[in-house]
Amino acid sequence: MATLVEVTDAGDPRLADYRDLRDVSLRKHVEAEHGLFLAEGEKVVRRALAAGHPARSFLMAPRWLDGLADVLEASDAPCYVVSEQLAEEVTGFHVHRGALASLHRTPLPDLDTVLAGARSVLVLEEIVDHTNVGAIFRSGAALGFDAVLLAPRCADPLYRRAVKVAMGAVFSLPWTRLPDWRTGLDLLAERGFTTVALTLADDAVDVVDAVAGQERVALVLGSEGHGLSAEWQAAADRRAVIPMHHGVDSLNVAAAAAVACYVTAGRARG
Ligand SMILES: C[S@@+](CC[C@H](N)C(=O)[O-])C[C@H]1O[C@@H](n2cnc3c(N)ncnc32)[C@H](O)[C@@H]1O
Repeated sequence: MATLVEVTDAGDPRLADYRDLRDVSLRKHVEAEHGLFLAEGEKVVRRALAAGHPARSFLMAPRWLDGLADVLEASDAPCYVVSEQLAEEVTGFHVHRGALASLHRTPLPDLDTVLAGARSVLVLEEIVDHTNVGAIFRSGAALGFDAVLLAPRCADPLYRRAVKVAMGAVFSLPWTRLPDWRTGLDLLAERGFTTVALTLADDAVDVVDAVAGQERVALVLGSEGHGLSAEWQAAADRRAVIPMHHGVDSLNVAAAAAVACYVTAGRARG
């Protein structure tokens, strides 16, 4: 049973895991150093725990205690009970979803574990925005993709914003990081995947044609600003475009992922 600890001082060091959640660079540092990440809202907290991430602590206002009573009953991590005003003071924003939990990161699985039995995977090169990473996970899971692979510089799926936007899909869809950016796509080709770079390059073919008839497909997406690197565009087996109209030059990367996932899932439907 979690110990309920009432905290009334915003400077209390026991709340360190929850401090300044809007300060991205500070949070990256704190979370990496302590091997933690935050989940926000009852549903997401439950999914994170169910995925095997042990809780370090919980933080919530009294009115959220009942909704998570069974979770607190089963945990031996402390639950800091604070006023909503104090939660806002510590975190830097209004915590309208109620409960927060600080959870332990677990070691990432290796590539072959993540790819076992997979037919459709997403590969993210250098997505910078955590909201986009979360939205891509949500679409990938919803549209039946089997896994997500991240280049070493891609933003963290366990960052609070990504976890929230993904609605927990970062816990249901297997994922890991590629060990090395240079050889990343070769590792997929060696495992029988057709790597399809989503790009606006002049020689790109319609994505519908690029994935048709392919047994194992890896869709490769690039950064919000400069798109896919020249190296990954060259290394991919195929370059594919979602045709654009009305003078729009590109889609947001998460929107592109959703469209391409739907098309790729449809290859099995014929
Ligand atoms: C906002 S776009 C980057 C635009 C960048 N100026 C470029 O030329 O690639 C981010 C990523 O979304 C994907 N993307 C966006 N629109 C696309 C489209 N119409 N066809 C294929 N991929 C697209 C690509 O993977 C791209 O790297």
